Amino acid sequence: MQQQFPPLQAPRRLLFGPGPSMVAPRVYAAMSQNVVGHLDPFFFEVAEEIRLLIAYAYSTVNEFNLAISGTGSSGMEAAVANFVEPGQKFALLTNGFFAERIGEMARRHGADIVRFAKDWGQPFDPQEARDFIRRERPRVVAFVQAETSTGMFNQSRTICEAAHEVDALVIADCVTSLGGMPVLVDENGIDIAYGCTQKGLGCPPGLAPMTVSPRALDWLEKRTTPVTSWYLDLRLLDTFYSGHKYHHTASATLFYALREALVMVSEEGLEHRCERHRRNHVAFVAGIEAMGLQMLVDGHHRLWTLNTPRVPDGVEDGKVRQYLLEERGIEIAGGFGPLAGKVFRIGLMGHGSTADNVLLVLEALEAALKQQGYRPAGDSRAAAEKALSAAV
Ligand SMILES: Cc1ncc(COP(=O)(O)O)c(C=O)c1O
Repeated sequence: MQQQFPPLQAPRRLLFGPGPSMVAPRVYAAMSQNVVGHLDPFFFEVAEEIRLLIAYAYSTVNEFNLAISGTGSSGMEAAVANFVEPGQKFALLTNGFFAERIGEMARRHGADIVRFAKDWGQPFDPQEARDFIRRERPRVVAFVQAETSTGMFNQSRTICEAAHEVDALVIADCVTSLGGMPVLVDENGIDIAYGCTQKGLGCPPGLAPMTVSPRALDWLEKRTTPVTSWYLDLRLLDTFYSGHKYHHTASATLFYALREALVMVSEEGLEHRCERHRRNHVAFVAGIEAMGLQMLVDGHHRLWTLNTPRVPDGVEDGKVRQYLLEERGIEIAGGFGPLAGKVFRIGLMGHGSTADNVLLVLEALEAALKQQGYRPAGDSRAAAEKALSAAV
């Protein structure tokens, strides 16, 4: 070949978008360990540790916990493929982009979909959601706990209670809550939860940690048609992880990374970790509001992992993001769909959720906005520092 290829040198970005988030050095170190075969006893030891650690991260006593090989969407598709039977009623509670993705997957797997929809960034009224589920009596109810397209946290409890009243299973997308916010699978009554590795857990993307309740497993046993995906069939996957029979060549490297990240969650303690995210989020919002920006989502519905300040009038969000990337090496994201050009999506999650990073991102964002002619209303650093010291 004529073309020369210099040694790969990936830039060191500061990842403060909706994911991937910053990877902890310990996780990088774990990933450089020797690859073993996917049927090696050591691989199964790691998979077993991951099974136990996933239960901790989801606050559940479920025993059926595994990491699906694939990104968060593979967890979503595993949930849908296994728990949708063609023609059965599937209730989708939607107020953002990722709920719509669940709906599209359910449609492709043959579900009869009924929708309870709110505008992007608007919360579900618990009573309305309850009435909808009671009226429709679906077999499955699905919603997104942490909607990354809007920065909204959807409360789980009422949805799960109403679903269980009509004997439906609940699928919750926890991709942006796992490792950063209280998912509380058992306390809320979630039957099937899936997440990802690249946000609150601080790993590279590539696996989808998932947990399934005994109730959902019973349902699966009674399923009359084959699961519409071979690769994501949970009972087949169980012959691999529990039965140690070949299913697919899982990546040992990614399993090491996830194990290390989950060990870090257990060492920090889940409550402390969530509190760290909450504290840094509150300080970040204090800084944002002192600057004169407004948040899209109302106070107690906000994610602690991902912040969505509105783009101020007269500012082009693309130019702000370009400045941050080119001048500061910082990645944030913009909105899409109905929120395109209207919000920034700024993640402080996992290893990246620190007080220093709150101040760093605020300062850089302010500089980027000033480049666009924006005049900050007040002192964002002082407001964030005050919130940080008040929280100690
Ligand atoms: C809430 C939510 N669900 C699902 C996904 C899909 O995950 P992935 O991009 O890892 O496939 C994302 C990705 O950001 C997400 O934020």
